[in-house]
Amino acid sequence: MSITPRPPIPSFLPENAPFSPEQRAWLNGLFAGLYGLTEGVTPLSAQEVAHLVPGLALTSDTEVDDGAPWHDPAMPLADRMKLAEGKPLPRRMMAAMAQQDCGQCGYNCKDYSAAIFAKKEERLNLCVPGGKETARRLKDLYRELDKPGAAPPAGKTAPAPPAKIGYSRDNPAAATLLQRRRLNKEGSQKETWHIEFDLAGSELAYEVGDSLGIYPVNDSGLVDLVIAALGAPSDFPIGGRTLRETLSDGVSLSPAPDMLFQLISYLTGGDRRQKAKALATGQDPDGDAATLDVLAALQKFGGIRPDPEAFIEALDPLQPRVYSISSSPKVNAGHVSLTVDAVRYEVNERIRLGVASTFLASRVAPGHKVRVYVQKAQHFALPADPNKPIIMIGPGTGIAPFRAFLQERLETNAPGRNWLYFGHQRSDYDFFYEEELKAMRKSGHLSRLTLAWSRDGDEKIYVQHRMRDEGRDLWAWIERGAHIYVCGDALRMAKDVERALIDVVAEHGKRNQEDAARYVAELKKNDRYQVDVY
Ligand SMILES: Cc1cc2nc3c(=O)[nH]c(=O)nc-3n(C[C@H](O)[C@H](O)[C@H](O)COP(=O)(O)OP(=O)(O)OC[C@H]3O[C@@H](n4cnc5c(N)ncnc54)[C@H](O)[C@@H]3O)c2cc1C
Ligand SMILES: NC(=O)c1ccc[n+]([C@@H]2O[C@H](COP(=O)([O-])OP(=O)(O)OC[C@H]3O[C@@H](n4cnc5c(N)ncnc54)[C@H](OP(=O)(O)O)[C@@H]3O)[C@@H](O)[C@H]2O)c1
Repeated sequence: MSITPRPPIPSFLPENAPFSPEQRAWLNGLFAGLYGLTEGVTPLSAQEVAHLVPGLALTSDTEVDDGAPWHDPAMPLADRMKLAEGKPLPRRMMAAMAQQDCGQCGYNCKDYSAAIFAKKEERLNLCVPGGKETARRLKDLYRELDKPGAAPPAGKTAPAPPAKIGYSRDNPAAATLLQRRRLNKEGSQKETWHIEFDLAGSELAYEVGDSLGIYPVNDSGLVDLVIAALGAPSDFPIGGRTLRETLSDGVSLSPAPDMLFQLISYLTGGDRRQKAKALATGQDPDGDAATLDVLAALQKFGGIRPDPEAFIEALDPLQPRVYSISSSPKVNAGHVSLTVDAVRYEVNERIRLGVASTFLASRVAPGHKVRVYVQKAQHFALPADPNKPIIMIGPGTGIAPFRAFLQERLETNAPGRNWLYFGHQRSDYDFFYEEELKAMRKSGHLSRLTLAWSRDGDEKIYVQHRMRDEGRDLWAWIERGAHIYVCGDALRMAKDVERALIDVVAEHGKRNQEDAARYVAELKKNDRYQVDVY
């Protein structure tokens, strides 16, 4: 009897699909069986592979290269999730994040999702800009990991080496607040501070472009009000600390997390219970959900007396906030400065305080220590060649890293030309670092300074309007190899500035819009267009 050799199973998998030879053989066999095919097949797309075998195409190193079209901080969560529909779980987890790659969680968006998926990271509430929406969505997606075949194969991973002190949110160093001065003049509608720290004793080193992570402390007045609303003694012991200490620097008091509403639902009845339950699942029964910080939640359901320990358990940990560094270590390696806009706004006749910005603006006293860490920049650095011209676009606090860049280029005698776009509300009140910038302009170190004041006249003038006005020169600088940097508001400004740049390239580079957009994309790819937005 002769045995006809079995024809080799054709490959259904794309050549670059990240499987071992055994996995590849097994999968090809499986697909051949599934489709009853043995020849003339087209390899499956990465998406199809992911769909058919969700457990296999899922780890960060086996991730499909789908371009992450949802990776846009200005895109609403619902639209991001729509774009990620049908994608492998880590990609959908990534889409749930705020897409700022801001590093506040200790990762970028892609790596945070990969770590959650691999069950190396259990904290689902680390995305500061994504807030409750992101945490809620991640919780839902996390449940999918319990489905058979969804979780990645358990592998042995060596424990990560302990991070060097001062370079990770999990291992902060202590820096001393030296001084702060207000950058707006009396009469401004903004409150922005130049904050300076002494790094002596911390051994912290940084580079221009890096950010500084800060662990804030809650406002003591707010802590008092929360304790009063709880009706518990402030020295109630919780894990070796008092309730007051824990409320001061251990937990976030804004906004009220779902878990708190869940706890409240156990302690109330009837209609109130239904409302608390609805709030715990992201519904908004009274139309006030967005205004409910922890205190407002306790007041809304007045009369409940949660056990202090259960109450603390229901709150989110207090997260660090990051700030672009606005000084160069070449000027003074032992100092670091920030440019911080104090967030204060009123809701129902109570002033709400941005926890970290107002901590830096008013609660921490000079001479006191603050827990900090250096967040290394990813793709936000001066060109390696000091001869290259740079164009910096930084309205508002977006000026911070550019003050550092200018200092650095001055200290190192970098011959490249420097052009700064700065803008804010009113020229008489909000011209940050006016003396320094004018001195640099006078000396020629700042080759060009373009200003855009949005509230000086009847018409709003923004940096992108100035860019269009000066499009011809801007194009000439770009043609001479300029590197372009944008820093500040991610939601609107950064998008509008990019649009303006595309228009400038189209008009002065004589291209159609599509080619101009491609040109700007190429600048990005070559690290000649870098952004640090929040
Ligand atoms: C890479 C990076 C660099 C940054 N650099 C800087 C910098 O140089 N300077 C700077 O000032 N900031 C910077 N930020 C922003 C900074 O990290 C904080 O997000 C900011 O200071 C607010 O934090 P907070 O703790 O004071 O406020 P939070 O306690 O986090 O409160 C802010 C929240 O309050 C709410 N809120 C704010 N205003 C209003 C309003 N008017 N009405 C209703 N709700 C409102 C919003 O939900 C907002 O998310 C940077 C962020 C990133 C990611
Ligand atoms: N969530 C938001 O909507 C939002 C928006 C901006 C800033 N922020 C946050 O506010 C904090 C501090 O902001 P900041 O002090 O840096 O100042 P800012 O509020 O960003 O304002 C700086 C300047 O930018 C102008 N501006 C507003 N919209 C713009 C746009 N689309 N394009 C270009 N310029 C624009 C402002 O003008 P006018 O104010 O006169 O319009 C102002 O002159 C940051 O934490 C930032 O993330 C939030």
